[in-house]
Amino acid sequence: MAVALFHPLLPLLMLSFLLSPAAATTTQHQAPTPEPWPEQFHAVLFMNYSNDLSLVDLWYDWPGGRNLHIIKDQLGGPRLFDLEWNNGTSFFYPKEEPLSCRSVQLDVGLLTPNWLDGATYLGRARVDSFLCDAWTKADFIWYYQDVDTKRPVKWVFYTGRTAHVMTYEVGAVLEDSAWQTPAYCFQKNNTTTVQQLENPEMFPFHNGLSINHNLIRQKTMFRRSLGS
Ligand SMILES: *[C@@H]1O[C@H](CO)[C@@H](O)[C@H](O)[C@H]1NC(C)=O
Ligand SMILES: *[C@@H]1O[C@H](CO)[C@@H](O)[C@H](O)[C@H]1NC(C)=O
Ligand SMILES: *[C@@H]1O[C@H](CO)[C@@H](O)[C@H](O)[C@H]1NC(C)=O
Ligand SMILES: *[C@@H]1O[C@H](CO)[C@@H](O)[C@H](O)[C@H]1NC(C)=O
Repeated sequence: MAVALFHPLLPLLMLSFLLSPAAATTTQHQAPTPEPWPEQFHAVLFMNYSNDLSLVDLWYDWPGGRNLHIIKDQLGGPRLFDLEWNNGTSFFYPKEEPLSCRSVQLDVGLLTPNWLDGATYLGRARVDSFLCDAWTKADFIWYYQDVDTKRPVKWVFYTGRTAHVMTYEVGAVLEDSAWQTPAYCFQKNNTTTVQQLENPEMFPFHNGLSINHNLIRQKTMFRRSLGS
């Protein structure tokens, strides 16, 4: 199913964009390597997936073994919380009525801070008005980092799902109480396994929020491909 989402021209388009003269000169020297992710940070991401727009608060907490996405669709309903633990468990829930929750067990943990190690350097490009170094990894992600500040500016998944980094606060940590999994997530029949995700009909979300199958599938593949 995920293959159907792949736009065959996407990597080509990105490559032709990147193969600028600047890229050629840079690669004559030693290819730069991407900055590791800080162990803890908060970022606000502007997401675009085929014109479905959303704002995502990303709280990455490697020492805490936890990662939280708070997703707000454009003109959408309640925010969707996507809480990921390093043991592979993810919970998806709103914090508003009607309460409901989904839990997913992945066979991989969080991305490590150095998950970009081994990425292939592509050169330089102007991205969202920043001059960036670009890398790709595992034919899965294209990653753009500001040349001067080394901050991530944008990343693009092979599906075309794109994140533009709007704020990037290194060292920011969300207070512990905000990481509390709601009690209603521990009801047995609110649990769905990743195998069931192969069949989207088996993953209904009963609270009016649409939980995006592609997003979960991509998350799983992402972590499997890029390893932890
Ligand atoms: C969102 O992405 C599409 C391509 O999928 C692009 O045509 C559109 O301009 C983008 N919209 C915004 C607001 O960035
Ligand atoms: C993983 O860790 C979280 C947070 O401590 C916990 O709620 C969840 O039940 C754990 N999952 C498994 C499979 O142990
Ligand atoms: C999940 O838990 C919520 C809260 O207890 C409940 O209202 C909902 O019906 C449960 N979901 C399913 C599929 O049973
Ligand atoms: C979940 O449990 C509730 C109450 O325990 C029950 O009414 C509901 O049918 C169950 N849902 C599923 C999908 O099994």
